Amino acid sequence: MTNVDWDAEAASFDEEPDHGLRDPEVRRAWAGRLRGWLPGRAGDVLDLGCGTGSLSLLASEQGHRVTGVDLSPAMVALAREKLAGRDAVLLVGDAAAPPVGEERFDAVLVRHVLWALPDPGRALRQWRGLLRPGGRLVLVEGVWGGIEPVGIPAERLTALLDPIAGPVRVERLSNDPLLWGGQVTDERYAVVAEIRPSGQKRGEPAAPGQ
Ligand SMILES: C[S@@+](CC[C@H](N)C(=O)[O-])C[C@H]1O[C@@H](n2cnc3c(N)ncnc32)[C@H](O)[C@@H]1O
Repeated sequence: MTNVDWDAEAASFDEEPDHGLRDPEVRRAWAGRLRGWLPGRAGDVLDLGCGTGSLSLLASEQGHRVTGVDLSPAMVALAREKLAGRDAVLLVGDAAAPPVGEERFDAVLVRHVLWALPDPGRALRQWRGLLRPGGRLVLVEGVWGGIEPVGIPAERLTALLDPIAGPVRVERLSNDPLLWGGQVTDERYAVVAEIRPSGQKRGEPAAPGQ
């Protein structure tokens, strides 16, 4: 994927069931999962590598204010169309260093992007700094392809989170064909990670007010 020309892919990207979420059943399945991963209260969600904005739109429909960032101007143009008229901002930029200034978020949402970044551990540490106290990372990843698989296994991702995260929940997604528009056999999962403030050790209670 690191060599993919995302501008060239943008026009047909939504044709995959889990990309465009055009089938109402697939859309409902993702909406239900997302509701369980994002904070229960409406908040600020940063969708990194947002693509055409399908998950950004679901988050917005669930009441969140969304900032989407993608490196591909063509993807961002489609996301802007999809979220037109909503409380959402779509920016061209690098997920590893999002152009959001001093703004902080209640959740950083990243689907199918982290594994292809040059230094995933560094990106996770960067994203930790973009969260408000009590914020969370919602990472949807997997390992795709049988012969030369690409992606990031859940075990490796949770190990990368170990130095920065408190409670981490891994939700397996391969066994839910509604999410993918059919059966899949490879590894697919979501990780919801509550982030520890800098300096707080695993298992230590948060400081008052956090
Ligand atoms: C597989 S698509 C996933 C899109 C979206 N997250 C979704 O789940 O529908 C990968 C997206 O990541 C974007 N991307 C790849 N590398 C990026 C980077 N370094 N910074 C921001 N976006 C990036 C691509 O332009 C593409 O839109």
